[in-house]
Amino acid sequence: MNVHLISGFIPASDQYKRQTMVQIGVIGTGSMGGMLVRTFIESRAAAPEEIIAYNRTTSRATALSRETGIRIGRDCQDVAREAGVVFLCVRPCEVKDVLRELGDALSSQILLISIAAEVPLADLHAWTDARVVRVIPTLTSEVLKGASLVAFGERATAADRDLVRTLLKAIGRAVEVEEEAFELLTLLTSCGPAFIAAMMKEFAAAAVRRGAVSPALADLLVTETLAGTAGLLEKEESSFDEVISRVATEGGITAKGVAVISEEGPRVFDAMIAAALGEEE
Ligand SMILES: NC(=O)c1ccc[n+]([C@@H]2O[C@H](COP(=O)([O-])OP(=O)(O)OC[C@H]3O[C@@H](n4cnc5c(N)ncnc54)[C@H](OP(=O)(O)O)[C@@H]3O)[C@@H](O)[C@H]2O)c1
Repeated sequence: MNVHLISGFIPASDQYKRQTMVQIGVIGTGSMGGMLVRTFIESRAAAPEEIIAYNRTTSRATALSRETGIRIGRDCQDVAREAGVVFLCVRPCEVKDVLRELGDALSSQILLISIAAEVPLADLHAWTDARVVRVIPTLTSEVLKGASLVAFGERATAADRDLVRTLLKAIGRAVEVEEEAFELLTLLTSCGPAFIAAMMKEFAAAAVRRGAVSPALADLLVTETLAGTAGLLEKEESSFDEVISRVATEGGITAKGVAVISEEGPRVFDAMIAAALGEEE
């Protein structure tokens, strides 16, 4: 697959505040919708009074409103009527029905940001008159880290692009890619936290199997090492190889362990990616 970066990384900025006061709508305040609301507010990309949300189960939206101070719409249309930009945060199988429910309320005056995996821009364009962007966020934005993938639809304007970049860079990094690359790259970003946690779980479990460390202590030590390694990698954009070479002296114990990962890793990770892409079904 040819992966093409339309533009490189947009660095995260702390305490960013939007210059323009566009009302932000959020439809679906589940795991990801709730996370976006919280992090837009925490990062000061938006003030609570600039966000209006609606969720099918109203108690969920009400709880988020109590927690964050955002406004709650009476229904989906209410959100679309009040907002200039609407984040659609429902499950992929629910997208078409919600867009049908929104009907004329979602006009070409509105920028629709769909975060649904597996619903292509072509379908979104067919189901709505709104200007459309696809974003694949990551749960790690909860701690204002991680990369959101972005693909702009053909109706998106230059101002839309600026707005989306501004909002997303407040909660991590925004990386613009061709939509065709989403399926593979989502494994590295949005699925990534689960893959990395699963790897770290096995790392800790291997130490526990040796019998001299409790699961709690092994988990703590691996978590601290993971956070510290991420810090080293981020510092001056260090590479994986640089970190390896700083720890693994030739012929030493770390080098022996790294050699095992280099030997076994390709088989494990090729299989993991193939399984996640559904190639083994
Ligand atoms: N989870 C991730 O890490 C991740 C990463 C990237 C992208 N995504 C995408 O994000 C989207 C949401 O995922 P999620 O994990 O946040 O799912 P989720 O927790 O199930 O949230 C979906 C929310 O949408 C609400 N909803 C459904 N139909 C609705 C309607 N007609 N009107 C208003 N609200 C409605 C649901 O309400 P109820 O409370 O009534 O169920 C629920 O709160 C998915 O499309 C997924 O592909 C997820």
